[in-house]
Amino acid sequence: PYVVTEQCIKCKYTDCVEVCPVDCFYEGDNMLVIHPDECIDCGVCEPECPAEAIIPDTETDAEKWLELNREYSLQWPNLTRKKDALPEAEEFKGAADKFEKFFK
Ligand code: SF4
Ligand code: F3S
Repeated sequence: PYVVTEQCIKCKYTDCVEVCPVDCFYEGDNMLVIHPDECIDCGVCEPECPAEAIIPDTETDAEKWLELNREYSLQWPNLTRKKDALPEAEEFKGAADKFEKFFK
C-alpha cells in the first residue's frame, strides 16, 4: 500500500482524498493516514499531494509510517471529500521535524 508520512502534518491539503477510488483516508487533527488493508496500491494519490507526503511502503524508512497509518486508520474517522487545507498549511509545507514537534 501507499502511506502518508510526516509532511502531511500541519498541512492536510486533502487533494489525496479527492482522487482515491476506494476512500481509504482517515482524518486526525493534524494529518491523514491511509488504511493499509483498504488501499489498492493504485498510486494516483501520490502525485496529487502538494506536500509530497505520500509514498509507497516499499520505500526506505516507510515501515514506521506503515505502522502509524495502520494504527490510526483504526481510530480516526473516514474522510471521503476534499476540504480546506489547514490555515497554516503553506507555512508548514516542507518544514523539518514535524512529527516530533506536532504529531498528536
Ligand atoms: Fe487510495 Fe490509490 Fe492512494 Fe491507495 S494508492 S490511498 S487506493 S489513491
Ligand atoms: Fe496530507 Fe497531502 Fe493528503 S498534505 S491530506 S497527504 S494531499
